Amino acid sequence: MMKLRTVVIPVAGLGTRFLPATKTLPKEMLPVVDKPLIQYAVEEAWAAGMERIVFITGRGKKILEDHFDHSPELEETLTARGKDDLLAEARSTIPAAAGNLLYTRQNRPLGLGHAVWCGRNVVGDEPFAVILPDDLIDTGSEQPVLQQMAHEFEQRQASIVAVMPVDPEQTSKYGIVAPLARDLDTRSEATRCIQVSGLVEKPLAEAAPSNLAVIGRYILMPEIFHYLERRHQGVGGEVQLTDAIAALLERQAVYAYRFRGTRFDCGDKVGFQMANAALSLQRPQIRERLLPFLRELVSKQA
Ligand code: UTP
Repeated sequence: MMKLRTVVIPVAGLGTRFLPATKTLPKEMLPVVDKPLIQYAVEEAWAAGMERIVFITGRGKKILEDHFDHSPELEETLTARGKDDLLAEARSTIPAAAGNLLYTRQNRPLGLGHAVWCGRNVVGDEPFAVILPDDLIDTGSEQPVLQQMAHEFEQRQASIVAVMPVDPEQTSKYGIVAPLARDLDTRSEATRCIQVSGLVEKPLAEAAPSNLAVIGRYILMPEIFHYLERRHQGVGGEVQLTDAIAALLERQAVYAYRFRGTRFDCGDKVGFQMANAALSLQRPQIRERLLPFLRELVSKQA
């Protein structure tokens, strides 16, 4: 029985869709309401019981490391002022056991596949998870997505990619999975986790083998490193993780898991605003003032 204990979080991308904000600020530090994207990712990893978090960082990403450490000046000031609740917030990012956060560098942003490959020596010969922090998934009262997937992994002991149904006109924006079994009803509970026979990168609706799009949560067997090692350049000249998964599934079972939750693409300006709106409105104190404001704004624009 293989145990899942490591998650890789790639944060070495340039975040060009968010320029000029990301010229000096890492995209992963952009806050949704009051928490940076990276913190949502780390909290999801902790909730899934991960013991080791491997960040793939790059130049200009130092503040990400500081975010998960003590801030002595801030903590002293908050203590002196008796602001215990804020002190707890400031300390909430610090791991329970020192040494569980590991950092390695991708010295050039050659693509997501290459970023994951840069983690190979830290991960070692064992299954591992990947979280892309810009895919923020609100699961409400359900378990966080990686926890849902870790539960599936316990039973399947194989690679699993997270998928979500998309409208036909959206398939050309995603990697789309081809289900192994034909004519599946991909809405029923019985097909929440299905075996995959192929992965098609950004197909038009007519050519799409399903409407299930791969998003930023993966559990991968260590053999994936073998395929990433080839550094095959795919779409956009980047080393694509989906290409390596497509090669892996020729040799071993790969599953697609339709997660419970709503995903926001926070690497995109619109998705990021949507995440902020949705998560803000879940906080009663913010909702009280924001909702009337938004209603008025919309009525003025109508
Ligand atoms: P994206 O492709 O969304 O990020 O990668 P990007 O390249 O930074 O963004 P744009 O398209 O230029 O706006 C998803 C995740 O993979 C990481 C990113 O940091 C992000 O967390 N990534 C991407 C790397 O670590 N290295 C890479 O070479 C590419």
